[in-house]
Amino acid sequence: MEIELNLVPEEKRKAPDFENTKLPFGTIFTPHMFLMDYTIDEGWHSPRIVPFSEINLHPAAIVLHYSQTVFEGMKAYYGVDGKVRLFRPWDHINRLNRSADRLCIPKLNPDDVFEAIKTLVLLDKDWIPRKKGAALYIRPIIFATEGTLGLKPSKTYTFMIILAPVGAYYAEGFNPVKIYVTEEYIRACPGGTGDVKTGGNYAASLKAQQVACKKGYSQVLWLDAKEKKYVEEVGSMNIFFYFENELATPELTGSILPGVTRDSVLHLAKKLGIPAKERKISIEEVIEGIETGRLKESFGTGTAAVITPVGEICYKEKPYVINNGQTGELTKKFFDLITGIQYGEKEDEFGWTVVLE
Ligand code: COI
Repeated sequence: MEIELNLVPEEKRKAPDFENTKLPFGTIFTPHMFLMDYTIDEGWHSPRIVPFSEINLHPAAIVLHYSQTVFEGMKAYYGVDGKVRLFRPWDHINRLNRSADRLCIPKLNPDDVFEAIKTLVLLDKDWIPRKKGAALYIRPIIFATEGTLGLKPSKTYTFMIILAPVGAYYAEGFNPVKIYVTEEYIRACPGGTGDVKTGGNYAASLKAQQVACKKGYSQVLWLDAKEKKYVEEVGSMNIFFYFENELATPELTGSILPGVTRDSVLHLAKKLGIPAKERKISIEEVIEGIETGRLKESFGTGTAAVITPVGEICYKEKPYVINNGQTGELTKKFFDLITGIQYGEKEDEFGWTVVLE
């Protein structure tokens, strides 16, 4: 793939002084972005890197009206050895294509996606913060651009990648967050799109998220759509519970996003000899676990969230505190292991990282 380059002048490429810059998640962007178009006649074509700017969309673009769009979230890290690393990029690229397929969006050549990410990240590599806990968030997105109000898969698409230097996702930093169980709203149902990364899932979560925020909680803990009994995931992350001698996470039922960090924790747990299970976990079991002390720790996993401890769960308007609201030992261990691999401090036994330079 030959990427056409239309770069900003040198003086506009200077990155902020990250030591003295706050990085609220996803608010600062690098000077360049990648674009590529799809038409039925030409397939995916015209890969190009251009100055970061607003984009033109037809007022009837299908994405605006019917949400035909998919995205990914991954990160590039400056390692302690000065190398730039991506974490499990091929898993993200494959999931992007799986999501695209579900939304009737033509798949991309995975090698082209990797090439696009690599070229863009290296071009704007000064924008990767050189400090632990911060990274360059990579947001690939594909959206339907055909201008028509008829409900059907678009005939044209744009694939875009933008980059944002980020710190912690939550205002709490990497400290315990409080989550709120909603019984009023659901996120995804069997046969729906809950297991792929499409904007509609996130739009549908906003109402419940707003309710949770008003009550002082950072995120919503979603239950299954059928029985409202089993835990599924949290707003922006998968969820784990550490019961006495068992690490458990909800099994992938089709309405849960198969998270890359989730999968990494399952692999690491196995390596550490911690019995880890993907299974059905009822909210009653979680609450009883907190009440009896059987539930020792809970944490969320995600690219943006990394490993985020959960310090409190509100169920039926009653707060239940986990591990005295503190980060648990096992949670900290997973945080240290995963970030250690991502920043090149710890051996990458699973071959998860890809060094770009
Ligand atoms: C990610 O963790 O990369 C996500 O896409 C979640 C999003 C809500 C920031």
